[in-house]
Amino acid sequence: MLLHIPDVLTAEQVAHCRQKLDQADWVDGRVTAGHQSAQAKDNMQLPEDHPAARELGDLIVTALQDSPLFMAAALPLKVFPPLFNRYQGGQSFGTHIDNAIRQVTGTPHRVRTDLSATLFLAQPDEYDGGELAVEDTYGLHTVKLPAGHLILYPASSLHHVRPVTRGARLASFFWIQSMVRDDGQRTLLFDLDMAIQRVSGELPDHPSTVQLTGVYHNLLRRWADA
Ligand code: NI
Repeated sequence: MLLHIPDVLTAEQVAHCRQKLDQADWVDGRVTAGHQSAQAKDNMQLPEDHPAARELGDLIVTALQDSPLFMAAALPLKVFPPLFNRYQGGQSFGTHIDNAIRQVTGTPHRVRTDLSATLFLAQPDEYDGGELAVEDTYGLHTVKLPAGHLILYPASSLHHVRPVTRGARLASFFWIQSMVRDDGQRTLLFDLDMAIQRVSGELPDHPSTVQLTGVYHNLLRRWADA
């Protein structure tokens, strides 16, 4: 499932991120790439331990916890500390798949990457190109969202970032280990959750709402690791 989550950050939060990122020293993005993706990757990144990366990463993780849509769709168990990248001057990231397991640098913590997330931090009219293109069973999807919006997609998908031919594309990217590792099961739970919320809004006293909520939780109990 590809899911667009609007307004994860407010305009003020985006402006704060931009100000910090403009002042930061960037490094070659190949530092966090695996062997195959290092050959495909051409961008700049903030070092993982950069104070701005940590501060803005915390801001993003807090914003995600306040997003009911993100929580319902990702069912997060662990969120990898958000990283930041910049593409400009024709830079791109060729077709690759994200590493399945990521170690949080300097810690014993590992995150299984069930979901990948990109949070856009530049407005679409600030740059040309730079679309995120994700291949799934239904074909190729290209994504370019307003600043502060997030795209969530299965980390198991092949994807690439098209060359940025004008301006600069700034984004945060990170991974989520979900309580439900299987994308199909997680998508069913999300669809059921959304349907229950609609029905309970329109028919708040209907006894089926309680029954369906029970089905949701019993499926979650069956499929989730916590
Ligand atoms: Ni990737």
